Amino acid sequence: MRFDILSLFPEMFPAVLSASILGRASKGGFASYHLHNIRDFADNKHAKVDDRPFGGGPGMVMMCQPLHDCVQAVEKMDETPATRILLTPQGEVLKQKRIEELAKKPRLLIIAGHYEGVDERVIDELKPLELSVGDYVLSGGELAAMILIDAIVRLLPGVLGHEDSAAEDSFSARGQEGKRLLDCPHYTRPQVWKDRVVPEVLLSGDHGAVEKWRQEQMIERTKNRRPDLSEE
Ligand code: ADE
Repeated sequence: MRFDILSLFPEMFPAVLSASILGRASKGGFASYHLHNIRDFADNKHAKVDDRPFGGGPGMVMMCQPLHDCVQAVEKMDETPATRILLTPQGEVLKQKRIEELAKKPRLLIIAGHYEGVDERVIDELKPLELSVGDYVLSGGELAAMILIDAIVRLLPGVLGHEDSAAEDSFSARGQEGKRLLDCPHYTRPQVWKDRVVPEVLLSGDHGAVEKWRQEQMIERTKNRRPDLSEE
């Protein structure tokens, strides 16, 4: 999958995109990341990308022209059609179902908004899918974009080995009625730590019993912690 990331702070990305699973995915050819600085597309001599809001008020607003021209130019860099995404606290709150859908696309063009917001006219013109990573406000869309990319890349076929398969993650695993479930508790050595013992069944070697216990734990945890989780 090709990712084009449009940002005013592209220098925030390389450490995250080159480490761990995201790094492994690009080295293995499952994902490619292309960073673009929106400022490079400003057509004024000071490379200005933001301005004061009409009507007054605090903060600055991202201007239409640099972002629009950046999107147009980046889309032409590859013939694969891109799904446009804007990270904004006003977007649809991300859930695993949306991540699963996006993981099937060949190319995502991800815009990290910044400052107080983006001029509404360029949003109307570009019609991106507007996504939020939660009901809180970040200083910019960059961290949100990294969250989105991470959640998608780990679902790409071949990225995770058998040992850390995504199918058993929280939200991916499902109960009998198809409801999404939280993950079960996990334990590793030592068997006793600060007088706390590992549940006996996990040491029994009985795979059927282990599976049954894990499924029960998942259902119980979901009921206690996230009764709102849906069947989607
Ligand atoms: N930009 C600022 N806050 C954000 C959020 N919660 N989700 C996505 N983008 C954002």
